[in-house]
Amino acid sequence: MSKKLRIGALASGGGTNLQAIIDRCQDGTLAAEIAVVISNNPDAGALERARMAGIPTLCIDHRGFADREAFDHAVVGALRDAGVELIVLAGFMRIISAVFVAAFPHRIMNIHPALLPAFPGLHVQRKALEHGVRFSGCTVHFVDTGTDTGPIIIQAVVPVLDDDTEATLSARILEQEHQIYPRAIQLFAEGRLRVEGRRVFVEGANPPRSALINP
Ligand code: GRF
Repeated sequence: MSKKLRIGALASGGGTNLQAIIDRCQDGTLAAEIAVVISNNPDAGALERARMAGIPTLCIDHRGFADREAFDHAVVGALRDAGVELIVLAGFMRIISAVFVAAFPHRIMNIHPALLPAFPGLHVQRKALEHGVRFSGCTVHFVDTGTDTGPIIIQAVVPVLDDDTEATLSARILEQEHQIYPRAIQLFAEGRLRVEGRRVFVEGANPPRSALINP
């Protein structure tokens, strides 16, 4: 059997993206194993999901550290101890510092529930509705030192409907998050992602050629 990619996952919340990755590892469509799940929040549902799957967990509470860098040093140390090759942020509600990014260059992925570079930051589904965009979606990107600014790997597009609420739009986007995050990780595991500046080139990709129009 070929070697599996060792992943470290960081999550602060319910962990549905983590669950999607766990499921794809278990059914074999993702040639990876999650070596550790780390949370800054002792009550994160993600920790429970990891325990249920028999994955080692660690809670590193940011409130116990003097500053962001000290916290990041502790997290980097734990990830190194676990021997991870890729880090996935799955609803990790902490801005990560240059210390962390420099420790794993182009080896940290994040998922964001908007079509970056539109709507970085928080409450982005609400912002998309307020702005009146006809499409939104989600983005998997490599993490750099900015907030949601790193090189884009995959995006999925969903329509925004006139009767959408923040909840209905979020649910439509989340469904796609669960598709594209494992897919981005698998592309990484296969060595098919090449980063050049801001751009990520995907070897052997077969992208759609047709347009989407709404309405
Ligand atoms: C997702 O919407 C993700 O895009 C954002 O945080 C949310 C996490 O959801 N970064 P979950 O914890 O994976 O369910």
